[in-house]
Amino acid sequence: MKIALLGYGKMGKEIEKIAQERNHEIFLKIDSFEDWNTHIYNFLQADVAIEFSTPATVLDNVMKCFSANVPVVVGTTGWFEQLEIVRELCTEKNQSLFYASNFSVGVNMFFQINKKLAQLMNNYQEYNVSMEEIHHTQKLDAPSGTAITLANDIIANMHQKECWKNELTDDKAVLGIKSVRESDVPGTHTITYESANDIIEIKHIAKNRKALATGAILAAEFLVGKKGIYEMKDMLF
Ligand SMILES: NC(=O)c1ccc[n+]([C@@H]2O[C@H](COP(=O)([O-])OP(=O)(O)OC[C@H]3O[C@@H](n4cnc5c(N)ncnc54)[C@H](O)[C@@H]3O)[C@@H](O)[C@H]2O)c1
Repeated sequence: MKIALLGYGKMGKEIEKIAQERNHEIFLKIDSFEDWNTHIYNFLQADVAIEFSTPATVLDNVMKCFSANVPVVVGTTGWFEQLEIVRELCTEKNQSLFYASNFSVGVNMFFQINKKLAQLMNNYQEYNVSMEEIHHTQKLDAPSGTAITLANDIIANMHQKECWKNELTDDKAVLGIKSVRESDVPGTHTITYESANDIIEIKHIAKNRKALATGAILAAEFLVGKKGIYEMKDMLF
């Protein structure tokens, strides 16, 4: 595949390594708004774009992909409140979009365990559930996109919880999420159910960014040749 990288930061560089291992060509890199001026015509030749930029630039990049008829895999987080509009535009323009708050196979298994545990705990109100997410200090959004996916899955499966909040709370109707920023942490998510007598904890620790980058390349391979909107569950399960 001829891949255009939209965003050449920590994830873009990791994706480049995996793409080369899998014999794909990174034929274009865009790492700023200005880069589009020089690359816009070449971009039309891309088989697929992989977008890991910033919450402020992702939507402009996705719209450019839709206009250029280039399928796009989006990893950037912090824009999902606009998701419905983007989905509608993708369908209306007959384009191809794959998005995920987390591309790692391990985290997507963790999503399934989280849903199942929330279903099991739903009838046991003596337990209160909370979450902690830890990421590197350069991360722009909080809580992480992965934490929001986990939180929404808990809320959908536990009658007691109505919404999440980005701080720990004693309010039984609110799922508290604590965001911690420490240097060099790729991503750690912990979900804790605590009663007066015991604690159940599930945790996913990313040791590096390789699983995320590999998942994004697999998503690009999956997306090429398809129209429509896809998520990890469409590829994995
Ligand atoms: N979905 C996932 O699995 C997953 C995994 C890791 C990170 N992320 C998210 O991906 C995004 C990028 O993460 P990162 O760690 O690589 O960040 P990063 O800060 O290292 O890199 C972002 C890059 O985007 C570039 N950029 C700025 N404006 C741009 C524009 N208009 N077009 C293209 N590029 C532009 C910046 O120059 C920078 O190099 C973040 O939102 C992060 O939360 C998602």
